[in-house]
Amino acid sequence: MRIASVILAAGLGTRMKSSTPKILHYIFDKTLIQYVVESLMKFKSNNIVVVTGSNSDSIRNTLSGYPVTFAVQKEPRGTGDALRAGIQGLKDITKDKDASILVLNGDTPLVGASTLRGFLRLHRSLKEDLSLISFIAGHEHSYGRIVRDGGNVRAIVENKDADHEQKKINEVNSGIYAIKSSVLNLLKDIKLSNSGEYYLTDLVSLAVKKGFKVGAHAIGSETELTGINTREDLYRATHFLKDKVLSRCFDNGVSVIDKASVFVSPDAEIGSDTLLYPNVYIEGKTVIGSGCTIYPNTRIVSSIIGNNVIIKDSTVIESSTIKDKAVIGPFAHIRPDSKIGSLSKIGNFVEIKKSVIGDNSKASHLTYLGDAVIGSNVNIGAGTITCNYDGQKKHKTVIEDDVFIGSDTQLIAPLKVGKGAYIGAGSTITKDVPSLSLAVSRTGQKNIDRWAAKKNLKTESSNPKKRGSNNT
Ligand code: UD1
Ligand code: MG
Repeated sequence: MRIASVILAAGLGTRMKSSTPKILHYIFDKTLIQYVVESLMKFKSNNIVVVTGSNSDSIRNTLSGYPVTFAVQKEPRGTGDALRAGIQGLKDITKDKDASILVLNGDTPLVGASTLRGFLRLHRSLKEDLSLISFIAGHEHSYGRIVRDGGNVRAIVENKDADHEQKKINEVNSGIYAIKSSVLNLLKDIKLSNSGEYYLTDLVSLAVKKGFKVGAHAIGSETELTGINTREDLYRATHFLKDKVLSRCFDNGVSVIDKASVFVSPDAEIGSDTLLYPNVYIEGKTVIGSGCTIYPNTRIVSSIIGNNVIIKDSTVIESSTIKDKAVIGPFAHIRPDSKIGSLSKIGNFVEIKKSVIGDNSKASHLTYLGDAVIGSNVNIGAGTITCNYDGQKKHKTVIEDDVFIGSDTQLIAPLKVGKGAYIGAGSTITKDVPSLSLAVSRTGQKNIDRWAAKKNLKTESSNPKKRGSNNT
């Protein structure tokens, strides 16, 4: 089923009390408008128009790469006026009087593709001219009320305009409509409301008066159809989505110690028998295999983690791949474009950037590896640094299989350390190291016999009064 859609996204969102447009607020790592567009993409809407205000660079940037076009509503004069702007670019469709368009509010991010599909099916099979999705609101709200007469929809009354009796109606408007072209002609008849806006919802009573067939269908849940107007709405939607994703994780055999503090992106996948400790954030299109343990205070962004991987406390992994049975952390930072091989170990206070580490290699302590290609069975000693930046350019360090790098080594890139070579601790390596050789660049140790005694320096052991009295 293919259909044109218009997303209304030009409102000011004043109730958010923010300098950011409402529809660019985030739930996890995606903005509200991205969720709406992605639902439409799943549902295969082929022509998606986003109505923005005239100052909309940030919205256009956020949606660059998405298959959408933009229409501009010059002033935010209400949802009816926004839709008038939105259909300007849809002339071919609006000329065909049997065609329908789908209209959605940009602040309703959790609506699922299957709900939209079911809704359009109803719109067509019931041969309605104007259909909308309603739902039953369970708590205090400011949604438009669906006014019925003998079961038939007569009008939508906005919260501000509802009288005492109308306020008791709990069937409300979700802001999602399917509208036939013939009804769109009535947009011009919408009058300015008391609040100085053209309400799209007034189209309902106008269509009813003209004898069009209008229907409201309560086919989705309140949580799915939540419209976000305030920070509290945003909080509620975030937690609804979080719980939904965690339920899916439980169904897939994932264990979570503290549901309240674990956030898993709806785009992430986690395998069975993986255990998530508290304060774990799994963001973006991350894939985590089975049998992994992710310890507390860890953030994994758009990465691929194999099976039986252990990620210890306070680790950050961004846009990288970690192969099976690797152990990462505690306090490790794996920066974008890195690949860590099977059974490898990246330990305490180690930062890896744009580097490949082979299988069964280890960098266990206090190390920076950037722009490096490191083979298998390599041991990187504590305090090793690949000096990849000369102040202008980044250079590559290649360390082949079976190399041993002693502690406190600086590798001044570009550089290659050949297979099976050794580097002595405390070295600054500036030249390639041939395979199987030992490179040491520090000066040899010199012991000066009885140096202190000759200087007449009193050592602690020669001064009985001082012995054991180090609390001065
Ligand atoms: C709207 C509906 C209400 C419904 C609710 C569902 C109207 C008049 N009311 O109320 O019946 O229950 O959604 O969530 O439609 N927008 C524009 N241009 C404007 C004004 C708004 O593009 O001039 C966009 C906003 O960016 C937003 C959407 O339209 O994405 C809805 O506007 P909003 O102000 O949130 O309407 P509600 O008060 O929530
Ligand atoms: Mg709203």
